Amino acid sequence: MPEHRTPIIAIYPGSFDPITNGHLDMIERCARLVDKLIVAILRNEGKEPLFTVLERMEMLAEVVHPYPNVEIDSFDGLLVDYASERGARIIVRGIRAISDYEYELQMAHMNRRLHPEIETLFLMAREENSFITSRLVKEVIRLGGNISGMVPPTVEVRLRSRFSGEE
Ligand code: PNS
Repeated sequence: MPEHRTPIIAIYPGSFDPITNGHLDMIERCARLVDKLIVAILRNEGKEPLFTVLERMEMLAEVVHPYPNVEIDSFDGLLVDYASERGARIIVRGIRAISDYEYELQMAHMNRRLHPEIETLFLMAREENSFITSRLVKEVIRLGGNISGMVPPTVEVRLRSRFSGEE
């Protein structure tokens, strides 16, 4: 990187309850585009999460260690305020299908209104990941279905033990 260039920092925010292979693909692809990628978990969500923020951070850390420019963090409050505090000019979001688009468009417009200097960058999910959501993965494993290839193996182990009551 030339010495005079400001490093490009991006935030990839979400619930990550838990991280799926769709999220991981976004992380891999985005990490190649920017100098630093901060994967940020929203704390104090309204919805009852399956995993605590700490557990989700651990699961993320386990799978991002091959990418030296990826950092794991958590945040509270407005995403754009957090992005601004971290010096990030980009928010990355994934789009799987047209059904994601409307919600993402609203958030991107609202975030731009709040902090016009921060851009939202959309990456299209790979076709093979376009049906994978954290919510469906949890439902399938809870009902005894096969989720291999949908989440990283370490996450699958945690999900199995969570739903078999071992924890
Ligand atoms: O994984 P998710 O649930 O799709 O992530 C949603 C997230 C965390 C990106 C969104 O809920 C968010 O940014 N929350 C922080 C509060 C905020 O900034 N709200 C205004 C959004 S326009």
